[in-house]
Amino acid sequence: MNLNNKNVLITGATGGLGCDTVRVLARAGANVFILDINETAGQALAAEIKANNCKAEFVLCDLADLDETRQRVSNLTEQCSGIDVLINNAAIYPSKDLLEFSIDEYKKVQTVNVEAGIVCTNAVVPQMMEKQWGRIINISSITFYGGWAKLMPYVVSKASLVGLTRALARELGEHGITVNAIAPGAFPTDAEKIHPDPEGYKQFVLEHQSLKRRGHARDIANTVLFFASDDSSFITGQLLNVDGGWVMQ
Ligand SMILES: NC(=O)c1ccc[n+]([C@@H]2O[C@H](COP(=O)([O-])OP(=O)(O)OC[C@H]3O[C@@H](n4cnc5c(N)ncnc54)[C@H](O)[C@@H]3O)[C@@H](O)[C@H]2O)c1
Repeated sequence: MNLNNKNVLITGATGGLGCDTVRVLARAGANVFILDINETAGQALAAEIKANNCKAEFVLCDLADLDETRQRVSNLTEQCSGIDVLINNAAIYPSKDLLEFSIDEYKKVQTVNVEAGIVCTNAVVPQMMEKQWGRIINISSITFYGGWAKLMPYVVSKASLVGLTRALARELGEHGITVNAIAPGAFPTDAEKIHPDPEGYKQFVLEHQSLKRRGHARDIANTVLFFASDDSSFITGQLLNVDGGWVMQ
């Protein structure tokens, strides 16, 4: 699978899963725009990719600011003559009891995890339509299926991304744009540090998975590559679980 001459924008690109996705897509020939709020990590990742003779550029942006996001991504699409592949990957995941979440905290999670993705989509879709080719990949979560205690705003946001994926797929299909979602299972990244008992959580994960190894960020990266490539051109509106055979639906 190659992504030669494709412009890829990935949000939350310096995180545990994003980093390897950037590496895999850049190795496949893409010009990768690394969007994140973490400037130090973003510049370092872009430098690493360039040192390996691949193409990447860091884009500093706070997705909690939707006006800034609209401006940054619109400028980017003009500058590079269109984003071909958009990966809405960034997320925040505050964890506490249901009744402790204020409505403002709830809204911030929806802004970063969902609304920023809609803003990015709106900015890139016109040029995808002109080209009659585009890929949008939304990163949902296994928590969408079973709910997950102490993560209410996050779980709601991940469900929204599934609805968004289906609505966009239906509306954009006639323009040659596919829209799919990935539901990662439990990966040993920073996101997992919210669990108070890491060893117990690891055992819990392995008991639930059919495959008895922990997932690696590459497992997500390779799935993103498939959805970004021409090889997935007849698949749209789908949610694919990449979770070692935990959820089966
Ligand atoms: N790691 C897992 O086990 C797991 C499981 C299910 C779903 N997911 C999903 O996969 C995706 C990636 O997860 P991850 O484990 O890499 O998380 P992570 O926390 O390591 O990375 C998230 C990235 O988003 C960036 N970000 C956060 N707020 C931002 C903002 N306001 N503006 C710009 N960037 C911002 C962070 O700087 C970080 O680089 C997320 O959508 C997450 O919900 C992860």
